[in-house]
Amino acid sequence: MDGYGITLFLHSWMRWAVVVTALMTLVPSIVGWRNGAHWDDTKSKWASWFVNTTSIQLVLGLLLYGVFSPVLQQAFANFGGAMKDGVLRYWAVEHMTMMVIAVAFAHIGAARVKKAASDVAKHRVAVIFFGLAILIIVASIPWPGSGADPRPLFRLALP
Ligand code: HEM
Repeated sequence: MDGYGITLFLHSWMRWAVVVTALMTLVPSIVGWRNGAHWDDTKSKWASWFVNTTSIQLVLGLLLYGVFSPVLQQAFANFGGAMKDGVLRYWAVEHMTMMVIAVAFAHIGAARVKKAASDVAKHRVAVIFFGLAILIIVASIPWPGSGADPRPLFRLALP
């Protein structure tokens, strides 16, 4: 496997860490908000894991985007032309832009949860910011059968 293969493989599987940590962060935040629960260390830890896994995805994604991906090299060779091709535009603009926005929401959410004055406010901020991040992430993952260039759920081989 070359740099592209290793990075794509890690980025593909790390998506599951993002999805799992997202659910482990969001579901207890929604339940806790409804029940007026205490914001405890477990919730803070899952929120940190969610932010960390999305940050790792950002780094791996940037490596694919700027260094390794032959798809992006093809797009950059003729960017104007790439904008007219659904697959190249998806990778050059759509996936990257939406995911960067989602990672930003995750980071802003984590900072605001820390600053929030009450347990209710912490839960509310978590649901809003992490919820937006998760919605964007789930909508921007190239699931099988979706979007311009669907990819496998479990990557066992390179394209
Ligand atoms: C939470 C954030 C992200 C998630 C969950 C995610 C998920 C994925 C998934 C599932 C794939 C398909 C992998 C495969 O083919 O098996 C992919 C491909 C890719 N992602 Fe992301 N991604 C994220 C963020 C980013 C960011 C921020 C960038 C760019 C800065 C990026 C750039 C790419 C590129 C360039 C490809 C592959 C294109 C190719 O096939 O060569 N991703 N991503």
